[in-house]
Amino acid sequence: MKGVILAGGTGSRLYPLTRLMNKHLLPVGKYPMVCYGIDRLRRAGITDILLIISKQSAGLYTDFLGSGAAFGVSLTYKIQEAAGGIAEALKLAEGFIFTGERFVVLLGDNLFMDDLTPYVETYLLQQAGTAKVLLKPVDDARRYGVPVFDAKDSSLIAYIEEKPNRPKNKLCVTGIYMYDTAVFELIGKVSPSKRGELEITDVNNLYAAVRRLSYDVLKEWWSDAGTFQSLSEAGEKLKDLLP
Ligand code: G1P
Repeated sequence: MKGVILAGGTGSRLYPLTRLMNKHLLPVGKYPMVCYGIDRLRRAGITDILLIISKQSAGLYTDFLGSGAAFGVSLTYKIQEAAGGIAEALKLAEGFIFTGERFVVLLGDNLFMDDLTPYVETYLLQQAGTAKVLLKPVDDARRYGVPVFDAKDSSLIAYIEEKPNRPKNKLCVTGIYMYDTAVFELIGKVSPSKRGELEITDVNNLYAAVRRLSYDVLKEWWSDAGTFQSLSEAGEKLKDLLP
């Protein structure tokens, strides 16, 4: 099992700080944000990790993280030249993942306390060509992807509505996804959305449409640290998580 952390993007909601450095390097407690995703993967035994980063701050990433050895992992870096959506960024992982291999994708601004091990273990029991997403109850589901469950089999997601005005439930799809190499073929099938991006929700909906999208629900704290408020809350919550 490998890991991919998407840590590019412009971070426009965190301007002007993100004019100085990429969002995923901003401080959360004692460490840059990206370190928490690396730690969650390492704790689940996933030490071969691809970081997809932007040109801006590439030197800061390598200065701080180096080969990853000091963090107990092996890091590979790829540069995302232009922001084109999560699925566009994920395409860059093709080549890092070998045929038949499985991997966990983390959006670098998703911070959480759950141990990923049990979720990874159940995903490994799933058939090849299927995917899993992790969900979390939230106060305002309108800001996120929101799952609608299969009427016949509640262990499956029937479809995901991206940022719905009237969410059908309180759960959101977090930025924690599990795939195998079949995902790259599916990314090739989606078209840019209204905002001109290749959306990960469109890719996940291709799995859901053929009843191949399962889920688990995170039990502990989770946040998407993309705003100043959530960033400072995350700093407070995670200040003692890493040594
Ligand atoms: C993305 C996904 C959304 C998901 C969220 C989690 O949204 O499109 O489905 O709920 O990440 O952080 P974005 O933050 O890019 O708007």
